[in-house]
Amino acid sequence: MGRCYLLGLCLLLGLLRAGRGLQNVTAQLFGAEAFGTLAAFGDFNSDKQTDLFVLRGGNELLIFLADQKEPYFKPKVKLSINQGVITSVVPGDYDGDSQMDVLLTTQPQNHVTDELSVIIFWGRNQTLGKLLVFYIFSFNGDLIPDVFGVTNESDRPQILIGRNLSWHPALDTKSKMYIPHSHAFIDLNRDFTADLFLTTLSSSQQIQFETWVNKVRNKIQQTSYAKTYTDKVVFFSFLADGDGQTEHLLPACADATCQKSAIYLSKPGLNQWIPVLQDFRNKDTLWGFVPYKNNPVPITLHIGDYNMDGYPDALAILRNTSGSNQQAFLLENVPCNNASCRSIHRMFKVYWELSDLNQIKDAVVATFFDIYEDGILDIIVLSKGYFNSDFAIHTLKNNFEADAYFVKVIVLSGLCSNDCPSKITPFGVNQPGPYIMYTTVDANGYLKNGSAGQLSQSAHFALQLPYNVLGLGRSANFLDHLYVGIPRPLGEKSIRKQEWTAIIPNSQLIVIPYPHNVPRSWSAKLYLTPSNIVLLTAIALIGVCVFILAIIGILHWQEKKADDREKRQEAHRFHFDAM
Ligand SMILES: *[C@@H]1O[C@H](CO)[C@@H](O)[C@H](O)[C@H]1NC(C)=O
Ligand SMILES: *[C@@H]1O[C@H](CO)[C@@H](O)[C@H](O)[C@H]1NC(C)=O
Ligand SMILES: *[C@@H]1O[C@H](CO)[C@@H](O)[C@H](O)[C@H]1NC(C)=O
Ligand SMILES: *[C@@H]1O[C@H](CO)[C@@H](O)[C@H](O)[C@H]1NC(C)=O
Ligand SMILES: *[C@@H]1O[C@H](CO)[C@@H](O)[C@H](O)[C@H]1NC(C)=O
Ligand SMILES: *[C@@H]1O[C@H](CO)[C@@H](O)[C@H](O)[C@H]1NC(C)=O
Ligand SMILES: *[C@@H]1O[C@H](CO)[C@@H](O)[C@H](O)[C@H]1NC(C)=O
Repeated sequence: MGRCYLLGLCLLLGLLRAGRGLQNVTAQLFGAEAFGTLAAFGDFNSDKQTDLFVLRGGNELLIFLADQKEPYFKPKVKLSINQGVITSVVPGDYDGDSQMDVLLTTQPQNHVTDELSVIIFWGRNQTLGKLLVFYIFSFNGDLIPDVFGVTNESDRPQILIGRNLSWHPALDTKSKMYIPHSHAFIDLNRDFTADLFLTTLSSSQQIQFETWVNKVRNKIQQTSYAKTYTDKVVFFSFLADGDGQTEHLLPACADATCQKSAIYLSKPGLNQWIPVLQDFRNKDTLWGFVPYKNNPVPITLHIGDYNMDGYPDALAILRNTSGSNQQAFLLENVPCNNASCRSIHRMFKVYWELSDLNQIKDAVVATFFDIYEDGILDIIVLSKGYFNSDFAIHTLKNNFEADAYFVKVIVLSGLCSNDCPSKITPFGVNQPGPYIMYTTVDANGYLKNGSAGQLSQSAHFALQLPYNVLGLGRSANFLDHLYVGIPRPLGEKSIRKQEWTAIIPNSQLIVIPYPHNVPRSWSAKLYLTPSNIVLLTAIALIGVCVFILAIIGILHWQEKKADDREKRQEAHRFHFDAM
């Protein structure tokens, strides 16, 4: 009987593991509405489910709200502008009422200039002025997003203060901002306070990167991490690896047509670019990044820990350099096996033949998204080929089933906690700037750190998620420490950072940093995500209970039978004796 039970469990396990790899779930998610340009993620209606912001026909924004029934995303909210083309969508709470507003940038129909108009919708719309570059972060540390940009009135970058909606000069930089830029708002010096990272042009017209660190002084200070890059068009993404420090990943082309591509890594304190991927050849085909002029988005890596091993993987769009096809590829973060990357221990390996991902021709954007809010990152790909100029949306479910664990962390704005205006739950306002780090012991007993910045980039379809999923690898231990830091105002001395201990893996942690300046009263709510392993354990437990109950029942029944027999015999004997 025991074997039969075990067999059943094995069968169940086998069934659960059968669907390894990627699975096309587009129809279940969108029904017949799977087209448009996915522009941003955010929880628009505060129901703790991430909604999708999709652009259609250039001037229409649809918000697909997450729903319990198929199709799981339905277009419920619609905004449209009268003239021009929407070039960016950045959801966020721009006035501090803990409700999500939507910022749009628009451009005239025929792209006559690089100038962008900025509009914020909060029920009513409001036009805020003209900009050249823009980027969203909380400059003054009040956790209300501010708009950073160069206006048509001055060369110096300006800040549009969120609550105030007035322009102020921002930084004392002499460099011109580079377009397309890869500005970011993320902690670079491990003090849990977001720093500013800018892409600028040097006096010799080369792309360079500047970091502006929030030092305990009255202004943001520029540090020496200004490294120029001599190759052509670049963009970048941030990643943090096993040591918990933010690193700079730079996908680059050596020539204008991207015949030779590479991905480099650098970090503050490291004075060179180290290649983490140079080999773009698969069989007879040489692949390469797609130059910005041929693609609506700059060369970008979208980062996410696909296999939850604690090392972030990436998605990239590559083009057949001798043909015309372009496809999305998964780059897995693996131990370094080449002399060139030895000093940083890690490199990328390309999955050339990942089924269902390689079925999508003419891919334009590929990014990670947790479709079923189960902590496992799935993949969304946009591809050309839908009618008009709209893209087709493909969603691929990640059926990865290793015994790996994760923790999903969301840091809210903390502008209110129970006393929010008009009794709304403060959930779901995309919050740029928080920094999250964990330390734990891995399966081999080594100390392991991991970290991530929440919403560090916003422009050029950065498509960052409003939460972070941190992979923990195969160790099912409690997370020893989880630290969360938020931006602080310039001039404030104490760091705004709080620590939580013994976090259960496979859980979702919602951090409410309220009030901002008293980290010890911040609260964290823990939601458990029952994974398959937990479910299996439960089923196994119930199975064992039923089994034991059955044995007890049988034994009990046999004993009762024996008892009865004995009684009958006794009665018989008694009768016999009495005779
Ligand atoms: C995924 O499914 C949708 C709807 O069934 C289909 O239109 C699409 O072509 C499929 N994509 C891939 C890559 O198979
Ligand atoms: C903003 O709203 C006004 C009416 O309040 C409307 O006339 C205008 O066209 C709107 N602007 C955009 C960009 O939708
Ligand atoms: C900048 O743009 C605003 C809004 O369109 C306009 O009113 C202003 O005249 C422009 N300034 C310059 C210097 O072009
Ligand atoms: C708003 O702007 C005004 C002047 O433009 C300034 O005096 C005031 O301090 C600002 N308020 C905040 C909260 O930044
Ligand atoms: C992890 O972080 C802790 C605390 O910041 C630090 O002491 C330790 O050296 C880090 N471990 C690794 C492997 O980098
Ligand atoms: C790349 O393009 C060349 C030339 O059109 C073609 O021969 C080759 O098969 C293509 N490679 C792939 C993987 O599609
Ligand atoms: C190893 O590095 C060399 C250059 O240092 C490069 O040419 C080669 O393609 C790399 N090999 C792999 C497998 O990445």
